[in-house]
Amino acid sequence: MKELVARSLKYQAGRVQVLDQYLLPHEEIWHHCESVAQMKLLILTLKVRGAPLIGLAASLLVAYLAEQGSNKAQLSEAIDELQATRPTAVNLMHCMTRLRKALQQHEYVHAVVAEAERLFEEDCVLCDRMATFGAKLVAPEDNILTHCNTGSLATAGVGTALGVIHHAARQHADIHIWVDETRPLLQGGRLTAYELAQWQIPYTLICDNMAASLMAAGQVDKVFVGADRIAANGDFANKVGTYNLAVLAHHHKIPFYVVAPVTTLDMSCASGAEIPIEQRAEDEVTGVSGSFGSCQWAPQGAKVYNPAFDVTPAALITAWVLDTGIYYPQEVAAGELGTV
Ligand code: MRU
Repeated sequence: MKELVARSLKYQAGRVQVLDQYLLPHEEIWHHCESVAQMKLLILTLKVRGAPLIGLAASLLVAYLAEQGSNKAQLSEAIDELQATRPTAVNLMHCMTRLRKALQQHEYVHAVVAEAERLFEEDCVLCDRMATFGAKLVAPEDNILTHCNTGSLATAGVGTALGVIHHAARQHADIHIWVDETRPLLQGGRLTAYELAQWQIPYTLICDNMAASLMAAGQVDKVFVGADRIAANGDFANKVGTYNLAVLAHHHKIPFYVVAPVTTLDMSCASGAEIPIEQRAEDEVTGVSGSFGSCQWAPQGAKVYNPAFDVTPAALITAWVLDTGIYYPQEVAAGELGTV
């Protein structure tokens, strides 16, 4: 496999390497990954996270295993196992489907490796296109609210919603970002704040429950978020708390944009009701843990509800920013989402 290098995933010196996103921003630790069991654990524990990145990391591992001599049956089993790690982000399914097709070819090692390389490189291009389209929606001095982490840590390129913010900030140095901390796993507070600081884009970190009063005070001009799966009718799943923001933005008449590559579209889901939502462990809600230490605050035995994602209905979305262009509600209602 050729050398591939992104912000949080690389194939270098003959090894698949991932940046541990659970330890960021305090520690930058890279792990080598050589087995399906290792990759599954990295994905399940959110050391490797973000819809596009999960698919790409799994793909590089399959390509690595192919080069290491795994046979067709072993690779097929690896693809099935990796696909089952997280159910909501459809990018993983998309990548595994492409690798399954490559595996059917006579020269399957070459085909799988070439397909994994293509997936990685395509993602960078998709990110740039989304960022270029989305930046057109940003005006000077905008205060933009974002949720979770959708940047270069979550993709092979500049990101989805955060990629838009990155490109917009290069055009308008005076924009400012409100960063939702994103409970329970704090992807906003830990990762988005870290990326924005590195990019020198002015930001302010807020708790998720502060968005309403900020919007009421006229402090938010636009909301940009990413997506883990977009249904045919435009409903989409994203990090839990996104739906709250969409309702609030609608109430306050603030434009609400979702940014995602076409690899996040799932036309086999007619609506958001068909998107499977991952349920996660109770201890993510009863406390926090990370490189800063750990703390459990809820009483022993507290009952917990912990869906990782929620679904935002299309009716609350101002526009869908894809790598193929910007789509407005009439186009989405006409079934044109993703068409050029
Ligand atoms: O659980 P995570 O951290 O993988 O969830 C990530 C998100 O919800 C992102 O918003 C989404 O994957 C889009 S990122 C490019």
